[in-house]
Amino acid sequence: MRFNKAKYLASYPQFKLAPKLNLPEFAFGGRSNVGKSSLINSILNLKKLAQTSKTPGKTKMLNYFKIMDNKNSDKLLFVDLPGFGYAKVSLSMKKSWQKLVEDYVEGSTYLQGFLLLIDSRRGLRDEELQLVEYLIHIDRDICPVLTKSDKLNNQQRSKVVRDTTEQLRVFNSKPLFPILHSAKTGRGNDLLWRWMSERIFDESE
Ligand code: GTP
Ligand code: MG
Repeated sequence: MRFNKAKYLASYPQFKLAPKLNLPEFAFGGRSNVGKSSLINSILNLKKLAQTSKTPGKTKMLNYFKIMDNKNSDKLLFVDLPGFGYAKVSLSMKKSWQKLVEDYVEGSTYLQGFLLLIDSRRGLRDEELQLVEYLIHIDRDICPVLTKSDKLNNQQRSKVVRDTTEQLRVFNSKPLFPILHSAKTGRGNDLLWRWMSERIFDESE
């Protein structure tokens, strides 16, 4: 499975306003500026679908994208979640972020997996670990993705994969293996598509 046709649908400040489309859905979440929009553009091989920016914290809504096959049949939905952990927002903003994301991940019937983006230069921190714990608790599948890996050398890349795998081992769940990604080089895109495919189709198909 690999698609490269997509259309931006709309952005919703509340989950209850979002459309209920009967399509398998994947969510992309992580800190502000971690590279969510760039990753969505990169896996679809499209340059300007999701807006990228140098100003963190710009996306404060659920951004919905419809993914289509070559015959223009609707196949998937991608949901670009608002980034968390942006230091300059107030406590009430943080709470509204939390409510929006929780309403969405708990309420979405079609959500097949949560791609958790982690800046490969920073590694996994408390904020992400809390999110992992919460997602495991509500039984959501997680794909940890180490973004911007083109900014590291080989040795640093191996180290962050090792460290992240180790940190994720504390959770009493299925093992979680991080995928190294770069929106600049396209590294990791094949593995991300494979991860998503495995959550949509039976292995027998
Ligand atoms: P918000 O929506 O504001 O939370 O940000 P985001 O997570 O969507 O990040 P975005 O994709 O806008 O990228 C943030 C910055 O990081 C931009 O300047 C991107 O060009 C840069 N960036 C994203 N991915 C990569 C990557 O794989 N490699 C490099 N070198 N830069 C990247
Ligand atoms: Mg964004």
